[in-house]
Amino acid sequence: MQVTAPGNGDAQGTRAPQRPIRSFVLRQGRMSPAQQRACDELLPRYGVDPATPLDFERIYGRRAPVVLEIGFGMGETTAAIAAAQPDIDFLGVEMHLPGVGALLRRIDEQGLANVRVLRHDAVEVVATMIVPATLAGIHVFFPDPWPKKRHHKRRLLQPGFVHELALRVAPGGYLHVATDWEDYAQEILATLSAEPLLENTALDYAPRPAYRPLTKFEARGLRLGHRVRDLIFRRPNPEKQGRTTF
Ligand SMILES: C[S@@+](CC[C@H](N)C(=O)[O-])C[C@H]1O[C@@H](n2cnc3c(N)ncnc32)[C@H](O)[C@@H]1O
Repeated sequence: MQVTAPGNGDAQGTRAPQRPIRSFVLRQGRMSPAQQRACDELLPRYGVDPATPLDFERIYGRRAPVVLEIGFGMGETTAAIAAAQPDIDFLGVEMHLPGVGALLRRIDEQGLANVRVLRHDAVEVVATMIVPATLAGIHVFFPDPWPKKRHHKRRLLQPGFVHELALRVAPGGYLHVATDWEDYAQEILATLSAEPLLENTALDYAPRPAYRPLTKFEARGLRLGHRVRDLIFRRPNPEKQGRTTF
């Protein structure tokens, strides 16, 4: 099933015929035997079945803030953040099966009780499975940059999808994006700044918060002089005006 990214109407608010964002390529990717075994044995334990809507208390067996991570890749960052913040529950959404296997292994080896994995298109997950205003945060780290102009429509962080994300964040919660792709960073900054439900926590780009570890890939990019930009926007909490969650 392919669901469209809602909210891509024109400036007058009329809804143009909606086209799905297809932000990923289903690479076959080679599964290592260990990743395959992890999918077979651990997905039933740490995987979440696509369902409408997701019941976080049932999934994690407790009531705690939930952070959604979209496109966790091989899951190094997910596991590191979750290990450092055991009081927060993390839901990782990824399409790439070897990456799903890799994160499942990390969860099992590190005994991470606060991480669950959903192998599904995040655009659909957000549109159909996440109840509005239920997320403490959303992480989107190094989304595919789709550098060719004719592919920009495949970029994940477009206005319609960003609005859907903002609706799922609870008041006081945040959306944190990191990218090393300069023109995408500028586009994301403009898109997030134009989203009425969100406000920037910085003047433009934010310093990398301590909770986001440097990945190997990022450290290499930095050595080559690629700048990584963090964008952290918050959904204001009208009951706590003036107070910040950072
Ligand atoms: C460039 S990689 C970055 C991976 C990781 N966040 C990191 O920092 O290393 C982007 C990832 O997003 C995933 N992705 C892209 N669109 C997606 C979607 N709609 N739903 C789920 N995952 C998606 C891709 O499969 C890919 O693994």
